[in-house]
Amino acid sequence: MISIEEARSRLDLAGQSHILQFWDELGAEERNRFLADLSYLDPEELRDHCRGAAEAASRCSSPQDRLDELMEPVPMEFIGGVCRSDKKTLDDWENEGFLQISLNRVAVLLLAGGQGTRLGVPYPKGMYNVGLPSGKTLYQIQAERIRKVQELASTRHDSMCKVPWYIMTSEFTLEPTEKFFKENNYFNLDPSDVVMFEQRMIPAVTFDGKVILEGKGKIAMAPDGNGGLYRALVDNGILEDMKKRGVQYLHVYCVDNILVKMADPVFIGFCVKKGADCGAKVVEKAYPAEPVGVVCRVDGVYQVVEYSEVLPETTALRGPGGGLLYSAGNICNHFFTLEFLMDVAQNFEGKLKQHVALKKVPFVDAKGTAVKPDKPNGIKMEKFVFDVFQFSRNFVVFEVLREEEFSPLKNADGAPVDTPTTARRSLLNQHYRWVLAAEASFVDPQRESISPPKSGWVHISSHLLWTCHIFSCKMSKLQTEVVHYINETDV
Ligand code: UTP
Repeated sequence: MISIEEARSRLDLAGQSHILQFWDELGAEERNRFLADLSYLDPEELRDHCRGAAEAASRCSSPQDRLDELMEPVPMEFIGGVCRSDKKTLDDWENEGFLQISLNRVAVLLLAGGQGTRLGVPYPKGMYNVGLPSGKTLYQIQAERIRKVQELASTRHDSMCKVPWYIMTSEFTLEPTEKFFKENNYFNLDPSDVVMFEQRMIPAVTFDGKVILEGKGKIAMAPDGNGGLYRALVDNGILEDMKKRGVQYLHVYCVDNILVKMADPVFIGFCVKKGADCGAKVVEKAYPAEPVGVVCRVDGVYQVVEYSEVLPETTALRGPGGGLLYSAGNICNHFFTLEFLMDVAQNFEGKLKQHVALKKVPFVDAKGTAVKPDKPNGIKMEKFVFDVFQFSRNFVVFEVLREEEFSPLKNADGAPVDTPTTARRSLLNQHYRWVLAAEASFVDPQRESISPPKSGWVHISSHLLWTCHIFSCKMSKLQTEVVHYINETDV
């Protein structure tokens, strides 16, 4: 740990000497903790970070550079999809995916370092229970899907395979996530196959480039965005761990999508067969003004373009088939080869774009009084996981059905979209569709046959769930099972 003199000189060098303005008022323990935090700050990096943040924020108020003229859709030959391909092709991809999984070459990587401010719960989002009859949390649902895909690949190829689960957390989410997994016995996964690691935190900065103090002896820090992944992989020796396990392919996803298909064999198989180093799952954009990033090419390289970066006329353009020309909605569901991740870590990480988020950051004022701002007062800089698409040598896109694969939990109930209610309904509706497709019979608690309930009130046990998910063509398996009909009041 550095001395107070060293800390002072470092902060002077960075132009941030105000950070120590309350030093004299701190107790011995607080001082120690503060100095320990300050030890991690490199003066030059800090200076550049603060300057860069202030400059980037000032650019936010000027009109954005439009990308319209430079954009073109992803060429058809690089797009695959569940509705674009026949059953035989989908089966081939699925077989390839299962083969790779059975050879222990596939891992999943969860991005779970976010603060989940919009949902507003004081614990990691993955611990959220959206109110399913089973009471399962997002983490549990994901863990069960890993177990199922391991089981299916093992059975098909007569092997005992593993799908390691890498979980990127942050200072906010690591401890509670670890505790939650321990308390739940890692949801019956082998703990040695669940690898948690932490992303970096960076200081939040005022609009004039000063680090914000959250307390008299504490800097306001925030995770460096889900694109902090690439640095965190190196910081924590995760790429080495993957190599040691023989992992070659990664499925990277966000914590909040209740419909996520973990290590989806069809997606993995598609990417592997195409020889891709990087791939993105997308859903068809619902309407031109939908606020979702679109995967496309800009000036010849792949990128996700936000709605705000293009003119409304461009978002409304139609392709030859009548659908939106720019329709590939990004759902933060990616495929990477380990080789590509290593390449990014070694050669490109420093080139990733810094995005600016203007946020309400609680702070202490000049008198040391704690203030909760009611409008944005600070800048948080973030990197995005998808900004590496531009470095890919063979990038592919895989289109899936929104109702089958994408329903994110972003907001608290009461918001119009992406709430616990919409997430729960998406899952229950999906199960309802599976049950109908399987021509299963519905029974009441006394096992008397009843007519099918209305959509949205069916919850299939986890045991069957993933089986149906993968083998959508073999739904007849369900016919022999009792399907629970859930009363509206149970849900
Ligand atoms: P979001 O952009 O939705 O952010 O993250 P969030 O933190 O979950 O929610 P808000 O914006 O504060 O309400 C998309 C995914 O990226 C992860 C999140 O955990 C989520 O899975 N993420 C986000 C990180 O892993 N690290 C970050 O620094 C930010």
